[in-house]
Order: sequence, then structure tokens, then C-alpha cells
Amino acid sequence: MWKYTEVLMDHFVNPRNVGAIENPDGHSEVGSPQCGDAMNLDIEIDENDRIADIRFRTFGCAGAIASASALTEMAKGLPVEEALKIKNSQIADFLGGMPPEKYHCSVMGQQALKSAVADFREKRGQVADTVDSLLSRFANLEIVKVHPRWVAVRGSSDDAEKFGKMLSEKLGRAIDVKRSGE
Ligand code: FES
Repeated sequence: MWKYTEVLMDHFVNPRNVGAIENPDGHSEVGSPQCGDAMNLDIEIDENDRIADIRFRTFGCAGAIASASALTEMAKGLPVEEALKIKNSQIADFLGGMPPEKYHCSVMGQQALKSAVADFREKRGQVADTVDSLLSRFANLEIVKVHPRWVAVRGSSDDAEKFGKMLSEKLGRAIDVKRSGE
């Protein structure tokens, strides 16, 4: 039996941020090559590129559950770039220590976060490409920000509405076009 700290045991027995997000901005499914265990992770990103919500589910061991719980607590509210910098040693510190043999379990959480962020960026990239392909038809519309679920623009409400319809049609899902400052 591994020797676990009280904090780690608490995160194992009462893991924080377990579950899934409906229509996540980023989703990942990763596995640990060391043990074959798996993890799914969802993120929701706000308009300031911060992690507004993060949820995970894992078939991993106690160490994986506790470290993913810790990682989600540490990452929530952080800018995406900062969340990606969270190190294994910081997760272990957060949990009051972790047996070195179990470090690979916490690596799985980090990989899940990295991969969910990559998915978020890919989705945002798809929206950005579609925005570019349509923009020539809207001479008076200025793009302020692109997100996987919405686009912020400056321009008339008529243009914004038309643009939103065309964007949603082309992408095959609803994209909210909101006028910046509203
Ligand atoms: Fe598989 Fe820990 S042993 S995640």
C-alpha cells in the first residue's frame, strides 16, 4: 500500500471538479502509457482566456484521481497559458507530497489539460478561418475576438445578425455573434 498524505486522501475520497461540461470549449481523452489508465477532461474558457470551468473523469488510481482533482483546483480561474505551466512538483506539493512511484499518475492530468487546450485552440482556429472566409462580404464589420462558441464584432446589429447566421450555417453549429461593448 502506498503511503498517501491526508490531503491526497481527501482529494481521492472527495475529488473536486468531477464530471463533464456540456459543449466544452476543449475536450481531451488521454491514457497513461505506464499503466493503461485513462482520463477525459473538459474545459470552458471565458472571454479573457481564463479557465472558467474544468471537469475530469478518470479510470485511474487514487493518485490519478487526487492529482487531477488538485490540478483542476489549481487551474480554475487561471489564464490558459499559466495553467499549462503547472508542474508535477506543484501538484505533489499541493497534495502535501506524493510517492515518487505515482508521479506518472499526475502526468496524465497534465497531458489531459494540454490536450484539451489544444482542442480549444483547434476549435477557435476553425471559427477564425470561417470568419476570414466570410469577412469580405461584410466591409463594415470589425472582428474584435474569436472564441469556439462566439465572435465579438464591431458593426451594425444587422450585419452582426447576418454574419452570425452565415457563420453558424457554415460551421454546422450555433455561433453567437455579439457586438463588442454590449
Ligand atoms: Fe494508473 Fe495511477 S496507476 S493512473
